[in-house]
Amino acid sequence: MTVSEIIRERCTIREFNDKKVSLDTITELLETSVWAPYHGIPEPWRFIVFSENGMERLIDMILQALSLPERKEYGEKLKTYLRTVPVAIAVVGKLDRNQKIMDEVSASVSALIQNFQLAAWEKEIGVVWKTQSYMYAPQISKSLVLKPDEKLAGVLLCGYFDKKPTERFRKSAASRTTYVKA
Ligand SMILES: Cc1cc2nc3c(=O)[nH]c(=O)nc-3n(C[C@H](O)[C@H](O)[C@H](O)COP(=O)(O)O)c2cc1C
Repeated sequence: MTVSEIIRERCTIREFNDKKVSLDTITELLETSVWAPYHGIPEPWRFIVFSENGMERLIDMILQALSLPERKEYGEKLKTYLRTVPVAIAVVGKLDRNQKIMDEVSASVSALIQNFQLAAWEKEIGVVWKTQSYMYAPQISKSLVLKPDEKLAGVLLCGYFDKKPTERFRKSAASRTTYVKA
């Protein structure tokens, strides 16, 4: 597959099958992903990979980070879902007081995550990129033992899959483009 084909074909996968994802494969994907561009803070990321019993640790951390109403409303459902996920990667980004630097960090972490999604797709591994309310709870930073200048930038749930969504749609770029020639 060409890069263009992978970009167009990749889609978010939320349901995984039981096939084990090796940590060597995850490491290989992360080694590819870190070739993302960055500016301001060099390579402003690190990763915490949860699998097997480690997934239970992550589930506990997430449930603890939910507010009481959130836990009541969907805690059990979330737990049941997360138990079907083979591997989760917490992508940790840098924090900075300067908005420009924060924007640059966020942009480069996003580029890294897309690299990961594309490299994973090439290996027929599906990913859903999660940004949920618990990521903003101080409790999750505590549980993950993040440093004061770090934040949880995203959680990537990964695994092999049997089905992919059939209906996907994008408006053409041309319909969103203004060409200025004179
Ligand atoms: C920054 C970001 C955050 C996302 N957060 C979530 C999320 O919390 N839960 C979820 O199910 N999907 C999440 N997604 C996946 C999007 O819903 C998905 O990319 C979008 O529907 C387009 O579908 P596609 O990835 O198959 O092209 C997120 C995507 C991005 C870029």
